[in-house]
Order: sequence, then structure tokens, then C-alpha cells
Amino acid sequence: MTSVVLKQELHANTRRTRLTYRGTVDGRPAAIKCYRRPLFGLFHWLRAQYRGRRLRAAGAAVPGLVYSGWFAAERCFCFATAFLENYRSLRAVLTEEPSRTRQLALVAVLGRSLADAHNKGILQPDCNLTNFMLGDNDVLAFVDEDDIRVYRAGLSPARARLNLANVAARLPDEEMVATLLAAYLGARPAGVGAGWDPVRFRAAIAHWERRLAHKRAQRNITEQRRFD
Ligand SMILES: Nc1ncnc2c1ncn2[C@@H]1O[C@H](COP(=O)(O)OP(=O)(O)O)[C@@H](O)[C@H]1O
Ligand SMILES: [Mg+2]
Repeated sequence: MTSVVLKQELHANTRRTRLTYRGTVDGRPAAIKCYRRPLFGLFHWLRAQYRGRRLRAAGAAVPGLVYSGWFAAERCFCFATAFLENYRSLRAVLTEEPSRTRQLALVAVLGRSLADAHNKGILQPDCNLTNFMLGDNDVLAFVDEDDIRVYRAGLSPARARLNLANVAARLPDEEMVATLLAAYLGARPAGVGAGWDPVRFRAAIAHWERRLAHKRAQRNITEQRRFD
């Protein structure tokens, strides 16, 4: 039987129904996501399992799957991926990085990684920057698979634009947004750049900025957060 051991809680949703831990699976370091609610937990886990398979088949930059199944000791279903050793979230890295040049270089890495995902028909709708993990040699991995989708027929221009705008809305200034966009378009097929609509992109960023502000207000977060 598979041995799953939890060592440290990494993150939980506000209702604490979905918790991510650092731990081990048969001795291998893993990030273990537990789906705790009896019925919804089963639903979310089944969805994670189904989507996880599709994502990996599409070549998504996600950590390898280590275990997915019943976790007897915690009486819940769990989904465990290989632990990304020495990786840090892009939010943490960008927030703490003192060099502007380096920040812009990292934003460009993000733009190229999103382009690569979009080229494969992959969409991460939850674009908060803790869902992008930066490793050695500026390798970027996507985590938080619950919402990631694969569109076999490819992403429509509108969907891709809205998704990039969701990421852009987390960046604190225009130069960073321009850097993100340039890196993104540089790694997409030429037709995407040729048909790019800057006005709609701007409007989509404003849409996400309003959504983020509303969410912060609901949670009584008053401080201005960069790289949210
Ligand atoms: N495979 C992994 N290796 C290392 N850390 C991870 C891994 N997966 C997730 N994490 C860390 O745990 C945090 C929470 O995981 P995530 O899947 O984003 O859950 P949530 O739905 O709670 O946001 C991530 O922001 C990241 O810091
Ligand atoms: Mg997350």
C-alpha cells in the first residue's frame, strides 16, 4: 500500500476544504493536495485526476504525478505531485527581487511560458502568481492544476487574450505589461501578433483589475499588493 506522510501545510483555501501539504509518498518528496469535503471532495478529486491526465498528455509544464487516490489516514482523496525542490513562487521572487532588470527578465520568462502553454491549447484560469513556480535556470512550472484546461482544438484569440490580461493585471506598471506582451507574442505563431487587438487587451486588463480590487475589498484587504 502507498504510504503518504504529511509534513507541513503549505496552503489552504479560505474554507479549508482543499489543503496542500509538503510531505512524502513512499519516501519521495511530494506536494500533496487533500480534498476534504465528503462529496465535493470526491468531485474535485475526480476532476483533478481527469484534468491532470489530459494536461500531461498535452505536454503541460506541471510537476510529475506521484500519487492520486484515497488517503486513509486523513480519510480524504488526495492528488500528489513531485515536490519542486528549490522552486519559489513567482510572486515571492518578483516581490523580493531588488533589480528592475532582473524583474523584467522574469516577466519575460512568464510571457514565454504562457505562450508555450497557449500554443498547446493549455489555459490556467487561476493566474495569481503563486501558481507559477520558478526553479533553477529560470525554469517555470505551473501548479494548482484544479482549474487548468486543455482545449484540443486550440485557444480562441479572445480566450488567449483574456487569459494573458488576467496575468498582466497582476503586474504593477506599464513597462512590465509591455514586456510580458512582447515576450508572449514573440513565442506565439506570427498570426497571433498580426491580429492582436491592443484596445481589447487594455479593456481586458481593466476588467481583471476591477475583479481583483473587488475580491480584495470582500476580504478586507486594504494594502496595495504588488504581483498579486
Ligand atoms: N509540486 C509542488 N512543489 C512545490 N510546491 C508546491 C507544489 N505544488 C504546490 N506547491 C506550493 O503550494 C502552494 C499551494 O498549492 P496550490 O496547488 O496552488 O493550491 P491552492 O489551490 O491552495 O492555491 C503553491 O502556491 C506552491 O507554493
Ligand atoms: Mg494556488
